[in-house]
Amino acid sequence: MSAPADPELLAGLDAWRDLPAVHQPTWPDPEHLAAVRDRLASLPPLVFAGEADALRERLAEAGRGEAFVLQGGDCAESFADATADKIRNKVKILLQMAVVLTYGASMPVVKLGRMAGQYAKPRSSETETRDGLTLPVFRGDAVNGYEFTPEARTPDPERLLDAYRTSAVTLNLIRAFTTGGFASLKQVHEWNRGFTKNPAYARYEEIAAEIDRAIRFMSACGVDVESLRTVDMYSSHEALLLDYERPLTRIDSRTDLAYDCSAHFLWIGERTRAVDGVHVDYFSRVQNPLGVKLGPSVTGDDARRLMDVLNPTGEPGRITFITRMGSGTVRDALPALVEQVTADGRPVTWVCDPMHGNTITANGYKTRRFSDVMDEVAGFFEVHRALGTVPGGLHIELTGDDVTEVLGGSEEIDEEGLARRYETLVDPRLNHQQGLELAFQVTELLRGR
Ligand code: TRP
Ligand code: MN
Repeated sequence: MSAPADPELLAGLDAWRDLPAVHQPTWPDPEHLAAVRDRLASLPPLVFAGEADALRERLAEAGRGEAFVLQGGDCAESFADATADKIRNKVKILLQMAVVLTYGASMPVVKLGRMAGQYAKPRSSETETRDGLTLPVFRGDAVNGYEFTPEARTPDPERLLDAYRTSAVTLNLIRAFTTGGFASLKQVHEWNRGFTKNPAYARYEEIAAEIDRAIRFMSACGVDVESLRTVDMYSSHEALLLDYERPLTRIDSRTDLAYDCSAHFLWIGERTRAVDGVHVDYFSRVQNPLGVKLGPSVTGDDARRLMDVLNPTGEPGRITFITRMGSGTVRDALPALVEQVTADGRPVTWVCDPMHGNTITANGYKTRRFSDVMDEVAGFFEVHRALGTVPGGLHIELTGDDVTEVLGGSEEIDEEGLARRYETLVDPRLNHQQGLELAFQVTELLRGR
C-alpha cells in the first residue's frame, strides 16, 4: 500500500483544509492534533482496498435486486462497550436477522456492521447547558467524554488514537466470530428457534419452521460447504471527522487510487451532505462505496448533483442512498425522489433507514415506536414496488442487549418501561428481540402477508 502517489491526488485529499469546517470539533491544541494525525498516518490500515472493492460489488448486486443489505449497530459506539460480550451480541443479532432475511428475500444478505468506527456524532449545537454550566456538547467517544465535566467535554485528540485502537480490536473480534464457527448457519438458526419458542413470538414459529426444513433438506442432500459456516461482514461508520479519515486514507498499490482504510463503507450524514461541502468534496476522492443519508427535504436535483460529484461515471455500487423520511412522510416524499434519480440513469442502491425520521420524546426519553419503524419499512417497500425500482436493504440502529429504548414490540415496552434499561449515549436502539422481530416482519412483508 505505498505507491509513489500522484501529486494531484494527494493535493486533492488535502483540499478540505481550505473549505469551511462543518461539524468538526474545536480541538484546543493544534500541535497535539497534528502529532496524532502523523501517528495515525503511520499505523496500519484497518481494512484493505480490495475488501472495499468487494463490498462495492455486493452493493451493486443489492442495487439490482440480486442481494439485500442489512446495515446495523449502535447510533454511537462507546469505548466502554467494546467488550467481548457486547461485540459478540451485536454480531449475533446481525447474523440472526441475516438468516431470516436471507430466507425471506431468497437472496444473499450483505452484512454491514455500523461497528468498529462509529465513534463520532454531528450535533445541532456546539454546547450544552445544565444548571447554569455551559460545556462543549458530547460529539462521540472519538472526540470527548459523555460525562458533564469540563475535563471530559474538552475535545482530546488522543481519543482519535483510542478510536483507531478500539476499531481494530472490534474488527478483530468481528473477523474471528464470522470465520471461527460462531457464524455457522445451523447455530444461528438454533438461536432463532430459541427466540420463536418464547410465546410472545409465536407468530414467527411458522417461518422459523420453514427455515428449519430448508436447512434439514440441505443437510439431507449432503450440502456441507464452507460457505455455510462463515460469513463476510463489513464495517461502516459515519464519515465525519476528517482529522481521522484523512490519515487513514491510503494509496492502493494495485490501482494508485485512494481508499479510506478506516472502514469498508462510509456514509455522509443528512447534516453534512451539502454538495459543495467539505465531506462531499473529501469522499469524492476516495474509492470506497459510499452512503448518503437523505431526509424528506431532499430534492431530485440535490440527489443528482450528489451523483455528479460522488459518482460521475455511474459506477454500480458506488452510491447507496439511505432514505430516512419518517413513517408519515415516506409514501409522499420518496416516490418523486426515486423517480428523478432513476430517470438520471446512473445506478444507485436504495436503503431504508426507518429510525431517524421516527424519533419522539416520551416520558422524558428520546425514543421511537417500533410500529413507526415497521411502517416506514413497509412504506419503503410499497413505494419501490409501485415504481418498479429495487428496495435494496435496511439501515437499523440496534444492539444485541436487552435494553429498553424503543417503544413497543411484542413484549410491549411502554413509556414507564423505558426507564428500566435506557443506556444509549445518543439515539434509541432496537433491542435484541425487536431487531429479530423486525427481520421476521420484513419477511412477512416480502411475502405480501
Ligand atoms: N455464508 C452464507 C452467507 O453469508 C450463509 C451463512 C452462513 C449465513 N452463516 C450464516 C447467513 C449466518 C446468515 C447468517 O450468506
Ligand atoms: Mn442515530
